[in-house]
Amino acid sequence: MLRKLLIGTALASGLAFAAHAEDVKEVQMLHWWTSGGEAAALNVLKQDLAKEGYAWKDVPVAGGGGDAAMTALKAMVAAGNYPTASQMLGYTVLDYAAAGVMGDLTETAKKEGWDKSVPAALQKFSVYDGKWVAAPVNVHSVNWLWINKAVMDKIGGAEPKTFDDFIALLDKAKAAGVTPLALGGQNWQEATMFDSVVLSTGGPEFYKKAMNDLDDASLKSDTMKKSFDNLAKLVTYVDPNFSGRDWNLATAMVIKGDALVQVMGDWAKGEFHAANKTPGTDFLCYRFPGTDGSVIYNSDMFGMFNVPDDRKAAQVALATATLSKSFQSAFNVVKGSVPARTDVPDTDFDACGKKGIADLKKANEGGTLFGSLAQGYGAPPAVANAYKDVVSKFVHGQIKTSDEAVTELVKAIDDAK
Ligand code: BGC
Repeated sequence: MLRKLLIGTALASGLAFAAHAEDVKEVQMLHWWTSGGEAAALNVLKQDLAKEGYAWKDVPVAGGGGDAAMTALKAMVAAGNYPTASQMLGYTVLDYAAAGVMGDLTETAKKEGWDKSVPAALQKFSVYDGKWVAAPVNVHSVNWLWINKAVMDKIGGAEPKTFDDFIALLDKAKAAGVTPLALGGQNWQEATMFDSVVLSTGGPEFYKKAMNDLDDASLKSDTMKKSFDNLAKLVTYVDPNFSGRDWNLATAMVIKGDALVQVMGDWAKGEFHAANKTPGTDFLCYRFPGTDGSVIYNSDMFGMFNVPDDRKAAQVALATATLSKSFQSAFNVVKGSVPARTDVPDTDFDACGKKGIADLKKANEGGTLFGSLAQGYGAPPAVANAYKDVVSKFVHGQIKTSDEAVTELVKAIDDAK
């Protein structure tokens, strides 16, 4: 019996060896990186893999926040047509891992020492049941303001430190005839901005309780109501054509000086970078007023599926390239994010990137690093979708008052849980 088993194993490894000789030298990647800055960042990866002889099979599905991409991924996985990897956000990785369709990168992770270099906040979402199922690409954070410097100078504005300062600054832009706030009226953009509003309104403890622990009392509280009041104020500074606008077009309004400021994750900086703009000279990056010291994060992960053996070498090549120190620097400089490893020097990053790296370290050490609910790191996708839906209905007037918004939010999250 044992002999039979051994022969079986020998045969299997022989077969594996044979298959290995014909490894598919191609990486098929599903992602939503379709803006100018995103495409430039993705090119860094394509080029690295091309150097190792891997062809790139692109599966782009436009739509920031990845909702459309995740619908496409679901269909591929249901058909058994797994990509080599897919861009994914935290809780989605865990969902697919629980469904048993993810691969296992643990051997590569051990060899490369990811346990030591990748922060625990990311390992929580890239390791499932003791196995590495995803390679973290970066850390983005959402509580930022992106400001056109020339417009700021023209209106004589200064960095807003509180929410009230921010409103006063927006008023100045309005008085000068510039659109104060660039926003795209898509639910994920509105909810991404609302993450910052909640942190600013309620402070770090409150953000964590409401947006990560989904604590009922916090979700129902007057502080949450006040957060919606504050969101309503912000929306009065948006131009009338904001409905349905893509996030990168909102960034372009700031780049061109058609608007003063955008509240957006630091992928917006990728657009400034692609337009050859320099922080301090052409644009300014400040933390969303009242949130300095805290970081609301998300991280793009390359989720690795349980592909056939002849496609596993491509996965290992992709994961190894992704987490190499040189790639982590080169890619994130272009993307606007910061490295997913703690040991990458900030030398090549611009002033905003250096601040992002320092802020992340401080927040991680000080217990003020929180997952973005809008961006897949606060709660599982069903809850996040319920949240985005309520916030968006409020912004577009289908939910009329902050009281009603709180009631709807509690109900929607309860139903989704
Ligand atoms: C991703 C970013 C991306 C942004 C806009 C976010 O969900 O984490 O990498 O740039 O969506 O597309």
